[in-house]
Amino acid sequence: MRRRIIAGNWKMNMTKAQAKEFMGEFLPLCANAKCETVLCVPFTDIHRVYKLALGSNVKVGAQNVAWADKGAFTGEISAEMLKEVGAEYVIIGHSERRAYFGETDETVNMRLKQALKCGLKPIFCVGETLEQREGGLTEQVLKAQIEKGLDGVAEDVIIAYEPVWAIGTGKTATPEMANETIGFIRSVATKLVGEVSILYGGSMNAANAQNLLDMSEIDGGLIGGASLKPSDFSVIVNCD
Ligand code: PGA
Repeated sequence: MRRRIIAGNWKMNMTKAQAKEFMGEFLPLCANAKCETVLCVPFTDIHRVYKLALGSNVKVGAQNVAWADKGAFTGEISAEMLKEVGAEYVIIGHSERRAYFGETDETVNMRLKQALKCGLKPIFCVGETLEQREGGLTEQVLKAQIEKGLDGVAEDVIIAYEPVWAIGTGKTATPEMANETIGFIRSVATKLVGEVSILYGGSMNAANAQNLLDMSEIDGGLIGGASLKPSDFSVIVNCD
């Protein structure tokens, strides 16, 4: 089902004390938000943020999950471990994981299937680089990422379109450009998994969020930098 989802991606930011301070400011500001509000936080913050969010409309997510149930996978964390500390969602295949940590379409697919098997809600990220966009390869790249990432997946997933050139750069895709590309992603993904919520990510902030969210194909946002500031993130979750 298509629905408004606003997910923060804290990346490798926020100590436990900072997370507590954030929640103290953020929770009152988002009390009337109508969207599905999610904070994807570092592993070490999950339990604290989960506990602080109890009774509110804020849900908690992780930023990665192992593809196996358990075993010799040094540095990885399992779905069961994440669920135990309160995670309900998990970001999978973020471009930073793909670029810096060797994540491939195949490992993304394995992690996605594991998340679904274990009852975590995956936020599956796709996006082209600047070089690929300028080379006219955007649709080809996205189609391959979606088809390989969703191979063998028939369930509900959340997709995040994050053009790599827009992440953390302040260069947002124009609402029209994001809308057109998400429309393409929808046409590919719907054939595989049916109706799907698709978020835009990449320098979304308090000033540009409403214009992006007004677009017909954009169901929500995945927000990095602006999710670290309670006042900015609350503007986004309270958008119409
Ligand atoms: P940004 O990051 O909002 O800081 O551009 C988005 C993301 O990487 O999810």
